[in-house]
Amino acid sequence: MRLVFLGPPGAGKGTQARLITDEYGIPKISTGDMLRAAVEEGTPLGRQVKDFLDRGMLVADDITNRLVQDRLVQAECARGWLLDGFPRTVGQAEALDGLLRERGERLLAAVELRLDDEIIVRRLTERRVCPQCGEIYHLTSRPPRRDGVCNQDGAALVQREDDRDDVVRARLRIYHERHGPVEGYYNRSGALVGIDANQPPEQVHRAIIDALEAARQQQAYAI
Ligand code: AP5
Repeated sequence: MRLVFLGPPGAGKGTQARLITDEYGIPKISTGDMLRAAVEEGTPLGRQVKDFLDRGMLVADDITNRLVQDRLVQAECARGWLLDGFPRTVGQAEALDGLLRERGERLLAAVELRLDDEIIVRRLTERRVCPQCGEIYHLTSRPPRRDGVCNQDGAALVQREDDRDDVVRARLRIYHERHGPVEGYYNRSGALVGIDANQPPEQVHRAIIDALEAARQQQAYAI
């Protein structure tokens, strides 16, 4: 199963990607996580992209395309993958299609989580994440059992640098400038599946599963 998750910052892509990859036993590949890890480790790539992440700007296509390409050819991706937060531009979508064609593979669906801006701002400013295992929390809707501590491994939770109110608004502005053509690209290819993300996480998850099963059946008929 090969999937991409699209949608605005804070729509719940990371939360839902974890549930779906657990359910289907495929790896979750998040360009945001890979870029943040590079910044954290202080690698040459991290130094190159830090300022973009801090300001909520998109990193150049050639960098993200290379990251994704290097990852998708690894053995763990042979049975499928879920790309979280990639592609974000038509250039990235075309590069991904080129890679799929070369390998004789097909995308099952481009799942787009849809949510209004004012809800997004509330979700992101109250998000906390575990720096060790990546578990995602929300101070109101999904608080940890102990204040500020990850349920899974006891690490101290942190707020992402780019979840400050001003950066969230910059990320949203860039999303609205850029997402239309990517949405159009997957709409034309027939892969686009829109999901209402303004529901409790379990309901969003159910809606995604239903959409994926429908897409699988459609793809089976088309073969
Ligand atoms: P990235 O890490 O991809 O961030 P994003 O797309 O902005 O998305 P987020 O991770 O902020 O949100 P999410 O949709 O995963 O929501 P979550 O599940 O956490 O990218 C970061 C940066 O990296 C970019 O700005 C850019 O600089 C760079 N970058 C990355 N990819 C790139 C690319 N392809 N090209 C160029 N640059 C790239 O949920 C949010 C909160 O809501 C949590 O607190 C959660 O608990 C809560 N929540 C989730 N679902 C629900 C629900 N149903 N109800 C109530 N609360 C919920």
